[in-house]
Amino acid sequence: MRRIKAGIINVTGYIGAELARLLCQHPQVKLSSVTGRSAAGQRLSDVFGHFASTDYEVKAELEGAIEVAFSAMPHKGSVDVVPPLLARGVRVIDVSADFRLKDASEYPEWYGFAHPAPDLLRQAVYGLPELHRDEIRSASLTANPGCYSTGAILALAPAVKEGVICPEVVVDSKSGVSGAGRTLDPLTHYSEVNESVTAYALEGHRHLPEITQELRALNPELSLSVTFVPHLVPMTRGILTSCYARLVDGKLARGAKAKDELLQLYREFYENAPFVQVRDKPCRTKDAWGSNFCLIYPTIDERTETLIAISCIDNLGKGGAGQAVQNMNLMFGLPETSGLESLPIHP
Ligand SMILES: NC(=O)c1ccc[n+]([C@@H]2O[C@H](COP(=O)([O-])OP(=O)(O)OC[C@H]3O[C@@H](n4cnc5c(N)ncnc54)[C@H](OP(=O)(O)O)[C@@H]3O)[C@@H](O)[C@H]2O)c1
Repeated sequence: MRRIKAGIINVTGYIGAELARLLCQHPQVKLSSVTGRSAAGQRLSDVFGHFASTDYEVKAELEGAIEVAFSAMPHKGSVDVVPPLLARGVRVIDVSADFRLKDASEYPEWYGFAHPAPDLLRQAVYGLPELHRDEIRSASLTANPGCYSTGAILALAPAVKEGVICPEVVVDSKSGVSGAGRTLDPLTHYSEVNESVTAYALEGHRHLPEITQELRALNPELSLSVTFVPHLVPMTRGILTSCYARLVDGKLARGAKAKDELLQLYREFYENAPFVQVRDKPCRTKDAWGSNFCLIYPTIDERTETLIAISCIDNLGKGGAGQAVQNMNLMFGLPETSGLESLPIHP
């Protein structure tokens, strides 16, 4: 069987390492080359103990003839490494935010730099397969969504598209600490995070513009406005997102029937989405742990006629590396679920 030659830039971060774990077990991929700034020249197994049974050497630059490169650089780092790869004919999946926003003028405000390649923003496809599956298939550059954005967009997309909610939406997310990456930061030390929950980025989190970009595109007439508050919770992986919005009068049946109608609407929307599970009971992050699944529980608070849509993902799975592999599968004509079939880990 032919195997796609893949490379990972920045394997020393959490997303890069999770990509390596998924790709080295993928039946149709040969992981040919991995890079890492601080670990160049070392064996990957010396950097991360869970790679002990593998034989990868971390290099300073990608080597050999690769067909697809995953850039797991921090934001503002991918804009430098991606264009030369594209110029060489390598297809790229970028997990940073550098190609997610369509409007270049948003980069100085949200990411603090002027985007050097606005033409690539037009060319890049936002890599959320549930919304852009066909465009991803032919993309040369796929911009993998942010972890919070994945949970929020998937939880709200059916309700927004069908116009069953009012435009003012509240998105409340709780993330495990690996979402902040492996780089040392006093705010994510064990003793700071354990036994504590913190709301942060109340002035505006960087994932907000991509959440609004994607949801507004689903229903431009809605004039959507999103209040997004992320929280850090003491767990390693996982994001639980609770979304709230008032229902539009008369769009759904009244009373108990409305909940069934809503569930049906969500199930139809995700009919052909192998990694989205629409549930009829509240979901928990543990049930997505280590997998590429997004669990969604849509319901209604009948007292206030409010939609409540809850999603759970693994931030390193569907929120990052798993979704990047799903995008690669689509880009190379493989079954969408290839290499991602394993069930979540429990307990
Ligand atoms: N963590 C998540 O849940 C998640 C989910 C979705 C998307 N993402 C995105 O994925 C990317 C990687 O995130 P991560 O969580 O894996 O980060 P991370 O664990 O903090 O890894 C970042 C690593 O990048 C390297 N690095 C930092 N600045 C660099 C530079 N200028 N040039 C080269 N290497 C540099 C450092 O490695 P060295 O020590 O080797 O220098 C650092 O360990 C980010 O863009 C992030 O936004 C993360």
